[in-house]
Amino acid sequence: MRLALVGFGTVGQGVAEAVAMKKDFIFDRFGTDLKIVAAFDSMTYAMDPRGLKPLELVAKKQSGKGLGKTRPKSVAEMLRELDYDVLVEMTPTNIENAEPGYTNIRTALECCRDVVTSNKGPLALNYRTLDELSKKNGVELRFEATVGGATPIINLSRELLMAEKVESMKGILNGTCNFILSRMGEEGLPFEYVLKEAQEMGYAETDPSYDIDGIDSASKLAILANAIMGLDVTYNDVRRTGIRRITLEAVELAAKEKKVIRLIGEVNGGGVEVSPRMVPLGHPLSISGTLNVLHMHTDLAGAITVTGRGAGRKETASAIMSDLVGLLKRNACLLNGKVK
Ligand SMILES: NC(=O)c1ccc[n+]([C@@H]2O[C@H](COP(=O)([O-])OP(=O)(O)OC[C@H]3O[C@@H](n4cnc5c(N)ncnc54)[C@H](OP(=O)(O)O)[C@@H]3O)[C@@H](O)[C@H]2O)c1
Repeated sequence: MRLALVGFGTVGQGVAEAVAMKKDFIFDRFGTDLKIVAAFDSMTYAMDPRGLKPLELVAKKQSGKGLGKTRPKSVAEMLRELDYDVLVEMTPTNIENAEPGYTNIRTALECCRDVVTSNKGPLALNYRTLDELSKKNGVELRFEATVGGATPIINLSRELLMAEKVESMKGILNGTCNFILSRMGEEGLPFEYVLKEAQEMGYAETDPSYDIDGIDSASKLAILANAIMGLDVTYNDVRRTGIRRITLEAVELAAKEKKVIRLIGEVNGGGVEVSPRMVPLGHPLSISGTLNVLHMHTDLAGAITVTGRGAGRKETASAIMSDLVGLLKRNACLLNGKVK
């Protein structure tokens, strides 16, 4: 299966490393290779129809020299001319207009290529359009890595729990906020102090608003509401309150009632909302640290909770690998004539 990787930062490099690491497994299991035939960053690209060497690509990128040649035109234009099977889209999330990811993904789907992505913007803003386009063209759009990092939320719900009706879901979808709130509660530290600590540890950006104002959680929740509960919402429909105003006093008051404060995303009959909530200690949503968790209620299975690491190079590559394996399995079924 020939991959075009677009975006070669933390996640892109993690994917290249995972492709190298899982080479033997993929060949033994599926009798084929995952071949990276093109890779793009913001300025440069490398291309080889015989397959690029993943670890050499990573070493080249890390040496600061880019990936090879300077890109002569937009990635989307190059994707129209390139011969590949799967676009793996890993450019930065843009929650204003979803670009450049939206155009890249749309282009690949229009050219009848499967797409795997970790980029939240295109799905949080244009889920329905992209979903319909992929179905119309008979290709797959997979996006496990957009929500929950290594936590297998989307494929679990859409594949293993396909026959279930998910009636509601609640989750912690941002590890940075969870780290801040749990440190405040466990160590009795004020918000500003822990935020600075999170920035020093690399959990929070210099401009932390994307995390602490609930923007990241809201984009993930919009994706889940569409993908798992069949709603038709975008990021802009999510009611959103972040954690900036959570004081140490509020956290201590909650502790007196044997509760913790957590930034919870919830989808139920009442709508789609991200806001700080009190959670009883011991409840599946009272987890600490940078973990993510999703708690669902379904009509047959009842309550199901999934917990795992929400971000990171290897963790996100793991989610992308699960989507690539999903495509390999589908291809194997098609070859055996098991699926029409
Ligand atoms: N990091 C995580 O743990 C994680 C987890 C889940 C989802 N995600 C999502 O995955 C995506 C990638 O995250 P990341 O952490 O890998 O980001 P990153 O380290 O900032 O890497 C982004 C990559 O995209 C490239 N890029 C930027 N603009 C581009 C353009 N117009 N055309 C082609 N390439 C372009 C950058 O090029 P340069 O190298 O030249 O700057 C860089 O290689 C984001 O959407 C993020 O939200 C990340």
